[in-house]
Amino acid sequence: MEIRKFNFEAHGDDRGQLVALEQYKDFPFEVKRVYYIYDTLTDVVRGHHAHKCLKQVLICVHGSCKIHLDNGHETEEILLDRPTLGLYIENDMWREMYDFSPDAVLLVLASELYDESDYIRDYDEFLKFVEAKESEK
Ligand code: TYD
Repeated sequence: MEIRKFNFEAHGDDRGQLVALEQYKDFPFEVKRVYYIYDTLTDVVRGHHAHKCLKQVLICVHGSCKIHLDNGHETEEILLDRPTLGLYIENDMWREMYDFSPDAVLLVLASELYDESDYIRDYDEFLKFVEAKESEK
């Protein structure tokens, strides 16, 4: 399973760090929406869904968390533990977010506005969706 991670450049100097991200240069889409998740309880698992079209970049800008990815055939666990690491998640990928440190802030850059009809929230439906797309090829 191919996982795309981005290592962003930090402009550090004696005042601290700054990371600047530009669409198409640092990640491959136009950003229509930004959201962030924080104050997540340690035993909470978020996500439990896939998207039909949405592309996202996940950056844990403070603290750490883990991301479980599942393409319907293989799974992978990715640790996001620094503000210069971006995880690119395309559509057709089941994701869960968990093991949030108490100070974790997970920033998400998204290619589309919020649209509930783009969500697949049932895992069996996700598997059927992947199977149907593969049989089209
Ligand atoms: P939810 O999809 O449950 O979050 P997660 O994927 O982290 O488990 O979203 C939580 C709530 O926030 C839900 O009521 C929908 C709302 N929401 C928006 O209004 N806009 C957004 O961009 C997102 C991601 C969620």
